Amino acid sequence: MGRIAIITDDPGWHGKQLTQAFAKLGFASDFVSLTDCRLNIESGRIPVVIPGFEHELPGAVFVRGIPGGSLEEVVFYLDILHALKLLGVPVYNDGRAVERSVDKAMTSFLLHQAGLFTPMTWVLRSSADAFNIAENELKNGHYLITKPLFGSQGEGIRRIEKMTDLFWLTPSSGVYYLQRFVRCAGDGFSDYRVFVIDNRAVAIMRRRGKSWLNNVARGASCEAVDLNPVIADMAVKAVQTLAMDYAGVDIIQNSSGQYVVIEVNSIPAWKGLQSVFQNDIAALLAEDLVDRHINRKNRFNVTAVSC
Ligand SMILES: Nc1ncnc2c1ncn2[C@@H]1O[C@H](COP(=O)(O)OP(=O)(O)O)[C@@H](O)[C@H]1O
Ligand SMILES: [Mg+2]
Repeated sequence: MGRIAIITDDPGWHGKQLTQAFAKLGFASDFVSLTDCRLNIESGRIPVVIPGFEHELPGAVFVRGIPGGSLEEVVFYLDILHALKLLGVPVYNDGRAVERSVDKAMTSFLLHQAGLFTPMTWVLRSSADAFNIAENELKNGHYLITKPLFGSQGEGIRRIEKMTDLFWLTPSSGVYYLQRFVRCAGDGFSDYRVFVIDNRAVAIMRRRGKSWLNNVARGASCEAVDLNPVIADMAVKAVQTLAMDYAGVDIIQNSSGQYVVIEVNSIPAWKGLQSVFQNDIAALLAEDLVDRHINRKNRFNVTAVSC
C-alpha cells in the first residue's frame, strides 16, 4: 500500500492530526516540502522526484501547504502537483483547484459566474481607475476592502472608510483587488466558516472577530452554531464551482439577511473549527481521500484486470 505524502513546510498540529488519521486507516505518511521536489525529465526515470519517494511515487498526496515565493517558484510548485496528477497520483486538493482558489480574482469571478452571491469586486492595474472606483464607493456610502490577490489569514487586507484613507490605497504586487465591504447582520463582527468534504457541508462555526477581520489567525473566537440548509447549500455550490475535494468556505450574512460568499479556501486550517466540533475532521478528510481516491481507484483497476 503506497505511503501518503503530506505536502507542508510546517507540519505542526494539522500534520500530526493527518498522520494519525491516515495511520488509523493503515496508511503511513511522510511530510514533504515542495521546495525539495524536482522534475527530472530523463528517459527511464520517474520524472517527479520527491524526497523519500524516489523509487515509488506516493499512493496519494495531501496538500497542506504551498510555500510562497516568486511567480516562477509558485508556478513550479504547482507544476509538481499537476505532474503528479498526470502520473496518476491522487492529489487532494489538486493543483487546478489550488490555483483557482489561491487567486482571489479568479475565485470571485467564478463564484459570480456561477450565480452565487459574492461582494462587488474590481481587479485592475490602473491607479487612476482604482481611485475613481474607491471614491465612488465612498460617495455612495460604502466602505471598501483591499486585498492581496494571493493572501490568506487576513494578511495585507485593509479597509478604506473615508476619503483620507485613499492615501492607503496601494496595489499589491502591482494589482488592485477592491471589494465592497459587507456589513454583517447582528452585533459586532462575525462570519461563518463552513467545511465541505466531497460535496457535503460537514461542519460549521461562527467566527467572531475582534474587528471586522474574522480570521482565527487574527484572534477571532470560534462558536458552535447549527448548520442551516441555506448556508450548507451555498457552501457546497461554491466548492463545486471551484471543483475541490474539500474546502473551507467563508460566508457572511449581510445586514439584510442575505448570505454572501467571501472566499473558498483549498488549503483550510481546521484547528479552530475542531475546537467546537465533535467529530474528528482529520479523520473525515483522510477517510474521504482514501475512500474516493485510493480504494475506488484500486477497485476500478481490479475490475479492469478481471474483465
Ligand atoms: N468584502 C468583505 N466585507 C466584509 N468583510 C470582509 C470582506 N472581505 C473580507 N472580509 C473579512 O476579512 C476576512 C478575510 O478575508 P478573506 O477574503 O477571507 O481573505 P483571507 O484569505 O486572508 O482569509 C474575512 O473572513 C472577513 O471577516
Ligand atoms: Mg478567509
